[in-house]
Amino acid sequence: MTHALEMINGIGPTIASKLRGIGITSIEALAVTPPRFISEATGISEKVAIQLCKNARELLNITFITADEYFKRRLSIGKITTGCKALDNLLDGGIETGAITEFAGEFGTGKTQIAHQLSVTVQLPKEEGGLEGATLYVDTEGTFRPERIVQIAPRFNLDGKEALRNIVFARAYNSDHQMLIIDEASNVIEEHNVKLIVVDSLIGHFRGEFPGRENLALRQQKLNRHIRQLLSLADAYNLAVIVTNQVMANPAIFFGNPNKPAGGHVLAHNCTYRVWLRKAKGNKRVARIFDSPMHPEAECTFQINEIGIVDIEE
Ligand code: GTP
Ligand code: MG
Repeated sequence: MTHALEMINGIGPTIASKLRGIGITSIEALAVTPPRFISEATGISEKVAIQLCKNARELLNITFITADEYFKRRLSIGKITTGCKALDNLLDGGIETGAITEFAGEFGTGKTQIAHQLSVTVQLPKEEGGLEGATLYVDTEGTFRPERIVQIAPRFNLDGKEALRNIVFARAYNSDHQMLIIDEASNVIEEHNVKLIVVDSLIGHFRGEFPGRENLALRQQKLNRHIRQLLSLADAYNLAVIVTNQVMANPAIFFGNPNKPAGGHVLAHNCTYRVWLRKAKGNKRVARIFDSPMHPEAECTFQINEIGIVDIEE
């Protein structure tokens, strides 16, 4: 149960609507958002933002828990195998539930292929690295290929047609449509036991519809609201979310300039795990995990072939 923002000292309709505009819709959300980010995204002064966050925390009476309790909570987290040992090792076992994992990389680095493969592996029994669940696949670019699922499934001893039945597909035609799909996802999630949400790609529509610096603030607000919505679903249903993000080839530019790619700091604040993909020789690819609270910054290699994402020695 979440609580209305207006219950907080210092929040009237104007500030409440500014906060909602950037996806902060509850006291809980306000309590955990960095004040500086609120200030940047809404124009509310940082001093006021700090006070509002403090008031939110007090109202929630945030209690401290010991690390062993926190550890127990973390034990409920599920993992989905990527079907590739090297990638699983890099991710410490696979894609986590309750979190957003971002795959960023230039065109053809394998983001969509990874999304297809995880839509299959999430269906596997737990002892084989799956969560016995379905996928909600939000395709913003028209690159989902059922044929590819049928190709990938047999490798995991799953029937292609059966695997397709466990993927709920939604084509998003613009950013509003994309947000609406996620706003209304709860019913689908419950009805189909969805354990993975794919958004491929997360920011394509936003970038196209809100070009240039003059639209940056609005774009970031919308994107932030969207990604927070995804995070609440991940949390509420203990499911995994993966998003893709097309970026330019040179990671040095990316690290040096947080405003590129579009969505830069909104993604950096909200994605739990970020995987950078780049091309190597032929069909080989390199994956690097960065910004992670619990993984060392490390790299691995994999390749893409007829049956999907595979280890290089296979
Ligand atoms: P953008 O969406 O354009 O940013 O790229 P992406 O990162 O999503 O790339 P995607 O996952 O579509 O990967 C494309 C690459 O996968 C191609 O360059 C192919 O090398 C490889 N690929 C895709 N399908 C097949 C297939 O059926 N067989 C083989 N051998 N390779 C494939
Ligand atoms: Mg793609």
